[in-house]
Amino acid sequence: MPALERLQKCLARCGYGSRRACETLIEAGRVRVNGAVASLGTKVDPASDRITVDNKPVQAAPPMLYLMLNKPAGYVTTRKDPHAKRTVMELLGEMGEWLYPVGRLDVDTEGLLLLTNDGDLTHQLLHPGKKVPKTYRARVKGVPEKEALERLRAGIELEDGMTAPAEVHFVRKNSEGATIEITLTEGRKRQIKRMCAAIDHPVLKLKRIQFGPLRLGQLAPGEWRVLTKYEVRLLKSLSSGKPV
Ligand code: URA
Repeated sequence: MPALERLQKCLARCGYGSRRACETLIEAGRVRVNGAVASLGTKVDPASDRITVDNKPVQAAPPMLYLMLNKPAGYVTTRKDPHAKRTVMELLGEMGEWLYPVGRLDVDTEGLLLLTNDGDLTHQLLHPGKKVPKTYRARVKGVPEKEALERLRAGIELEDGMTAPAEVHFVRKNSEGATIEITLTEGRKRQIKRMCAAIDHPVLKLKRIQFGPLRLGQLAPGEWRVLTKYEVRLLKSLSSGKPV
């Protein structure tokens, strides 16, 4: 028996974006299997079926790659942006041709950025329902009182609504103020900066130090490394809910 696979899953694996994006391609009538326009229920045998998108053959799935980059400040998290001076892709050399960032960090934020060509996993990790925790180390102006940290923990009113409860730890005082660590399970635009501004302790410097189970560790700014098989398994189990 050939191993049949849902068409949208096969396309996502072959680098055509998330499963949802691939469903949109199918619904738009842009995908054919053995010459016939495919529909959402179509199943394929990737080894023998001839699949095309916009009449171009779908290449066999490229190997899946998973990287962790320590993004330096000053680099834009984008694949292509004609207006961006420097993009994270430039730091990856030839690897950059294959990969997409998993979410984004602001241009002035540093730290852990995952990149992969696994559109399905990307979609899972960024899905709001998965509540994947991400930890940031923020240097803030002034020293927040316990009550201010409690407000961050409990949830704070921003212009796009209340933030979800967060884990917050005071790390240390420093010359300009303090360093705190915040773990969020949501990912709104400039969320940490807006939360800290709301307690009157604006962020001076921001670094992401953990994404789900993965820590940035000793990677220097601008450096990247391939994730180990175990790390990939951890990410997949996080998104599927199945044990590692
Ligand atoms: N929160 C922010 O304010 N900026 C980031 O880049 C990430 C989280």
